[in-house]
Amino acid sequence: MASGKFYVTTPIYYVNDVPHLGHAYTTVAADVLARYHRANGDEVFFLTGTDEHGQKAEQAAKKAGREIQPYVDEKAEVFRALWKTLNISNDDFIRTTEPRHKAVVQEIMQALKEKGEIYEGSYEGWYCVPDERFWTEKDLKDGNCPECGRKVEQIKEKNFFFKMSKYREQLAEKIKSAVLEILPTSRKNEVLGFLAKDLGDLCISRPKSRLSWGIELPFDKEYVTYVWFDALANYISALGYPDGEKYKKFWPADLHLIGKDILTTHSVYWTTMLMALEIPLPKQIFAHGWWTVEGQKMSKSLGNSVSPEVAADAVGVDQFRYFLMREVPFGLDGDFSATALINRINVDLANNLGNLVSRVLTMVEKYRESKVPQLHIGKPMFLYHEPSFASYYAHMERREFSRALEEVIKLCDELNRYIVESEPWTLAKDPSKFQELDNVLYGAALGITLIGKMIHPFMPDSSEKLRIWLGLENWGFSHVGVLKPGTVVKAGKALFPRIDEKKAEEIKVLLAPQKPQSAPSEEMPQITFEDFMKVDLRTGVVVSAEAVPKSKKLVKVQVDLGTETRQIVAGIAEHYKPEVLVGKQVVVVANLKPAKLMGVDSFGMLLAANDGGKLVLAGTWEPVKGGLKVK
Ligand code: MSP
Repeated sequence: MASGKFYVTTPIYYVNDVPHLGHAYTTVAADVLARYHRANGDEVFFLTGTDEHGQKAEQAAKKAGREIQPYVDEKAEVFRALWKTLNISNDDFIRTTEPRHKAVVQEIMQALKEKGEIYEGSYEGWYCVPDERFWTEKDLKDGNCPECGRKVEQIKEKNFFFKMSKYREQLAEKIKSAVLEILPTSRKNEVLGFLAKDLGDLCISRPKSRLSWGIELPFDKEYVTYVWFDALANYISALGYPDGEKYKKFWPADLHLIGKDILTTHSVYWTTMLMALEIPLPKQIFAHGWWTVEGQKMSKSLGNSVSPEVAADAVGVDQFRYFLMREVPFGLDGDFSATALINRINVDLANNLGNLVSRVLTMVEKYRESKVPQLHIGKPMFLYHEPSFASYYAHMERREFSRALEEVIKLCDELNRYIVESEPWTLAKDPSKFQELDNVLYGAALGITLIGKMIHPFMPDSSEKLRIWLGLENWGFSHVGVLKPGTVVKAGKALFPRIDEKKAEEIKVLLAPQKPQSAPSEEMPQITFEDFMKVDLRTGVVVSAEAVPKSKKLVKVQVDLGTETRQIVAGIAEHYKPEVLVGKQVVVVANLKPAKLMGVDSFGMLLAANDGGKLVLAGTWEPVKGGLKVK
């Protein structure tokens, strides 16, 4: 088992978003590898961080009505805190707004400029002024901005470009010869396909007049660095490039772990930047798949993203980490659902692994006064330890996390079967069979020791509990058979409690994705205050209510508006029984044009929130009389 150094990175996350399942996925996977390599005796450096410059961060702060620096400070802390919660063992956390990072980006820029790798040119394209974004001709939708639908302008402006195109063939060669390994193979082919076509030069600056939230170019104070050029450099700035001890020790990175969405930026932009700087390329880039949530693309605007914090709190940190790594082959896309999460935990962890551990420890306690027995050569033995570990190890080396965990479950199955077949409870009744009993118990205890080691990178807390129960000093991978006879073990509580039906229902409610809906003000055009004031909103009190005959949805209500009682027909019959409505405080659109609904006249509208199809009436916090203006 190799022992050397291992440098692993995650992408640095944008701070404009709240952390979700996707962010947790990359980071947990990197943590699993970092812990695995540490257990292997490697010297590990594990880096994560936040990407804080650029338009998205600037706009998010603006939208929140905040100063940008304190805003990103706060957001970076949210990520840092989440990684703590998820037991992430990163060695550093880099933020692109830190002086140590900015200095390196400027140094790189200067160096590239001096080497003639950066030149001044003019950028031509379609520009959306309100969105402050460039689009290509083919991006446009009916000639307008594909994002907001507004008019775009043809713009021509001075910018700086990096001579990326000249490295096209050289880079393809390095990928083909595996100097840079891109995994899975399908992703490597994707990159090679991309490189087979024309590769342009890369615009790496933004004029400050449009975007000031970035790192200033050292050779032109009117410009900042394009956010990707800034962000990618984190992988070396965190190590103290070019003279830092860590840089000398850990670069090149052994693995950049990323999602498939940012494959090009890493395998083409970053690598060509490094080539231009004459810095060795990372050894491997692995692009994992994407999670959907109950079949839906996860997105901020759909409001359906899964909070890793909520999920981990609901089922346990280790259980959540296990699910992420076990459910989907690493590299492929996967779908998240609370049902799948609960099933996986109950089937694999509570019923199988957890039960096996308590079964074995209880037997050692009962039949051998809690001491690991002697092994007697010549008596039957459990023989699956070594092949199981070898297979696990091979999968881990190939980043096949789900298969490595499958091997753990297979070992549990084999061991369970072995115990049933060898019947230690029968052997325990016959002193002439005690040596056989010793062997069965030793094999079983060694089995759960191995399981403890194998799950260590994935579920560090549970594995630690097991280590203590087994009376072991550490989990080093260097020697598989380390269980010393005579060691006192102790049976603790269930390693993984079963999620019962009641708890399962609670978890499903907690993790239920919202029905797709747009984020506030993302789709709606902006209106002026005068526009808003055209809507006559009034408080009202429901005086009486009755179902509209033959209609499933409609209720006819009489609402006290102070100066009058108004008849309104509302589509809320499936959500409120008429009798419940009487006396309720409501908000009414009082100047809506009258309409006839199922033959009944309606002179206004009740306001209600739509919570995934469920209507909830809007009212005032304190009871008020009808007819008050709401604005
Ligand atoms: N800031 C850039 C990365 C710069 S690295 C020099 C960025 N940030 S991000 O916050 O938008 O996303 C980072 C990563 O989150 C993606 O690469 C991907 O790993 C992960 N995911 C985001 N959404 C995801 C899913 N729905 N599913 C799985 N992972 C996804 O891009």
